[in-house]
Amino acid sequence: MWWQDAVIYQVYPRSFQDSDGDGIGDLPGIERRLDHLAWLGVDAVWLSPIYPSPMHDFGYDVADYKAVDPVFGSLADFDSLVAAARERGLRVLLDVVPCHTSIEHPWFGAHPERYIWADEPNNWLSAFGGPAWSRLNGRYYLHSFYPEQPDLDWRNPDVVTGMQDALRFWIERGAAGYRVDAIDRLLKDPELRDDPPASEPFGLPLSDEEARLALTHSRNAPDTAAALARIREAVGDSLLVGEVYLPSAKWQPYLEHLDAAFAFELLHAPWDASVLRAAIEATTRRPGAAWVLSNHDFGRLVTRFGAENARSATLMLLTLPGPAFLYQGDEIGLGDGPGGERRFDRAGRDRYRHPMQWDGSPAGGFTTGEPWLPAVDPERTNVEAQRDDPGSTLALVRDLLTLRRLLADGVELLDAAPGVLAYRRGEHAVAINTSGEERPAPLSGDLVLETAPGALRRRVLAAHSGAVTMGLLPTGMG
Ligand code: NOJ
Repeated sequence: MWWQDAVIYQVYPRSFQDSDGDGIGDLPGIERRLDHLAWLGVDAVWLSPIYPSPMHDFGYDVADYKAVDPVFGSLADFDSLVAAARERGLRVLLDVVPCHTSIEHPWFGAHPERYIWADEPNNWLSAFGGPAWSRLNGRYYLHSFYPEQPDLDWRNPDVVTGMQDALRFWIERGAAGYRVDAIDRLLKDPELRDDPPASEPFGLPLSDEEARLALTHSRNAPDTAAALARIREAVGDSLLVGEVYLPSAKWQPYLEHLDAAFAFELLHAPWDASVLRAAIEATTRRPGAAWVLSNHDFGRLVTRFGAENARSATLMLLTLPGPAFLYQGDEIGLGDGPGGERRFDRAGRDRYRHPMQWDGSPAGGFTTGEPWLPAVDPERTNVEAQRDDPGSTLALVRDLLTLRRLLADGVELLDAAPGVLAYRRGEHAVAINTSGEERPAPLSGDLVLETAPGALRRRVLAAHSGAVTMGLLPTGMG
């Protein structure tokens, strides 16, 4: 399968490239920047939602599954983007949001029976805090996220056929597959029973109020796999990567029909070799991991881990076996925007969504107008400045994309000094020092690349000059 070891680049369309000066990115803008992605060497792009939406959750509230929001362009722009991507050997993946629509989707008014209603709310919680129920016309509708995102009832056959129709629509237009949003919320307990109190940890971070409950009824209903089969039926062998918010030990029913699931244990691990190791060990116990370390919902690598460690994190992301998702901007070490912003997203995620920075101009080359969110220090962090600098993060990412093609299947975790994460992929090994102190390299042989100056004892920096953050890829190990 083409995606087995693919690097899939996440484009947040609103923030990638504006082509018409309105300060918001769009599809023609993405097309204009495809050469960057081809040069970088990724295999595919995943576009966060491009569908018509009132943008309460920036497109994750879909008002029409078979059109493009005018702010992003038109269907013709999508077709043109797919064709231009294809010319460069790139595939285009979309984001499908099957669990809820926008409150402005025509179904919500015309077909209320396609949603989940109750006379009285139970104790289920919205992912964004507070009850998952809002009152309308004397009854309550369920929303696992914002109130503007009513949950669909996947036990209603019209929901299934409507969604299948939408899924086919984009595959026929050339999409190579989907990232499937919030799929663990697809089906809930049909009796709407309260979630009982938690008796054991969930295994991934939750809000305090969510952590008090065992989230057994509000998600992951036993008939989920049957619904997933209908999604699979619609897309044939196109790629389906699930946003399954569960520890990997509980992925099994999802992977019956999806190709891969995001490895949230690793995404949430702190920068500590032993925790990273445990997450990799747990996740690779079975196939199906899609690696991701940052996206439009979580903090960027540089901000979470620091600039040097961010390079090491990227090294890890791109040397684990299986598909990897690289968030736009991480290839230049872009950081979060100013903290605490809630100008647009009530859940406070604006800061992970600042525009891509192409050059050192005030708007970073993103727009000729006023960007919807300002650039983050574009003079220091931009593509143009890093392109010809062999020590740059951009050069590191590009080199890693070449190097990863040499790595053998599977991964063997290695013993190493405290604070060092080490693993082997066939003849190559990766060593990552999270300790912040000098550590002996865990393996004999020549390091062909390092990423943190002085973090590991430096060996031979063949093909790669300049300071890299971490020890990488010794060869000729005995
Ligand atoms: C996950 C998406 O990544 C996030 O941005 C969105 O708010 C929720 N799902 C709801 O669709």
